[in-house]
Amino acid sequence: MKKIVVANWKMHGSSMHCCDYILALRPYLSPNVDLTICPPFPYLLPLRDDSWNLGGQNCHTLAEGAFTGEVSAPMLRDIGCKYVLIGHSERRKHNNETDTCVTQKCTTAQSAGLVPIICVGETESEKASNLTQAVIAQQLAAIPSDKVLIAYEPVWAIGTGITATTEDIVPVFEMIKKTFPTQPVLYGGSVKADNALELLSLAIVDGVLVGGASLDPHTLGKIIKAGEQAHATT
Ligand code: PGA
Repeated sequence: MKKIVVANWKMHGSSMHCCDYILALRPYLSPNVDLTICPPFPYLLPLRDDSWNLGGQNCHTLAEGAFTGEVSAPMLRDIGCKYVLIGHSERRKHNNETDTCVTQKCTTAQSAGLVPIICVGETESEKASNLTQAVIAQQLAAIPSDKVLIAYEPVWAIGTGITATTEDIVPVFEMIKKTFPTQPVLYGGSVKADNALELLSLAIVDGVLVGGASLDPHTLGKIIKAGEQAHATT
C-alpha cells in the first residue's frame, strides 16, 4: 500500500507562500506516496492541483444554516476536497470540541462525500496516569462509521519536538486496528524530515500527519521521499 502523508498547515500561510510552495514541492512528489494538503480555508483553491488531495482542517456539524463564519462539509467537497480533519486536539482544547461533536461532524462529512481524518490522542497527564488506552477507546467509540482515516496524535508530541517511540506507537496502533481493521492509521506529533523514515518504516504505520514541518516544502518533500523509501521496503 502507498504510504500516506497529510500536511496540516494549521493557521499559517499566505498567497505568496502557496505559489512558492507548489513550485518547490513538485520535484519531491512520488507515485508511491499519497499526499494531502490541509491549508487554511482561504488557501484551498490556490492549492488545488491534480498531483495531491486537498483536505479541510475543520467543518461544521451541520451541512448548512445560519452560522456566520463557519464552513460546511458540502462546501469543502464542492471545491474539491477529499478529506477533512476532525477532532484535532487543538480543536478539542481551544474550541471545546467533544466526542459528540466529532460524531456529528463525521456523519455530516461522510454524507457530503468527504473522508474524515479523525484525530485521537492522550494528553501528557493521561499518559502518566496509564489512561492512554482508555482515552483512545473512548475517542474511537465516537467514530460512527469505518469509512475514515484515523490519526494517532499523542497531545504531548504535538508541536513539542518530542516524537512518540515505537513502544508508544505500536500498542495504540494495534488497538485502533482491532476496531478498524481495514482503515489506514496515521501517526502525528513532531514528525520531521529526520524521523519520518523510522516512523514510516513501521509496517503498522500507514502514514503520517505533519504539522509544523509541513510548512516548508523542502522538509515536506524529504518526508515524501521517506514515504517512498519506506514503501519500497515495508
Ligand atoms: P506537529 O503537529 O507536526 O507540529 O507536531 C501535528 C498536528 O498537529 O497535526
